[in-house]
Amino acid sequence: MARTPVGVLISGGGSNLQALIDAAADPAYPAEIVLVISNRADAYGLERAAKAGIATRVIDHKGFAERASFDAELDAALRGAGCGIVCLAGFMRVFTPGFVEGWSGRMLNIHPSLLPSFKGLHVQRQALEAGVKIAGCTVHLVTPDLDDGPIIEQAAVPVLDDDDEATLSARILEQEHRIYPRALAALAAGRIRIEGRRARSA
Ligand code: GRF
Repeated sequence: MARTPVGVLISGGGSNLQALIDAAADPAYPAEIVLVISNRADAYGLERAAKAGIATRVIDHKGFAERASFDAELDAALRGAGCGIVCLAGFMRVFTPGFVEGWSGRMLNIHPSLLPSFKGLHVQRQALEAGVKIAGCTVHLVTPDLDDGPIIEQAAVPVLDDDDEATLSARILEQEHRIYPRALAALAAGRIRIEGRRARSA
């Protein structure tokens, strides 16, 4: 079985990257991580990738005058590595629509809320402030709108009375590590069918 080559974009710790690396260690997994790109040279996820023998690149957004030229560099690196799918895993940059459209249906993001609730930043804090009793995470296809796009997988967790941002984030993160590899496997294996905003298993 041909495994789909995947590029993962990170900015930080890369625990979701690690979950994908671990899943892809199984030869039967339908995707193979071939490149990890970080916009920050000090991202710990780069070490995780190197330990797994995966090629890494640092492309620092601060070296580019315009968003479009940064995105063009990312795009060239991903295509140069033969990537068929891109996974955003804690990548803290907003893209130009042109870049996103070039990967339409082939770029996934993990977001630590039950979308469409709580988009943007500090979403666990947003959930606590809103007083919701159930929180969670979402893997979705990336479209030009922020934290939008057809939902592939979601998982819910309870919000406990004594939760703070750290405890809630940790409970959600555990679920992120469970659903991201599942969502990537489904997309890589061609098991996702999109109808409007709905993604269904083919
Ligand atoms: C995760 O909570 C992810 O949902 C969000 O950023 C965080 C990244 O964590 N987009 P890590 O770098 O994967 O550990």
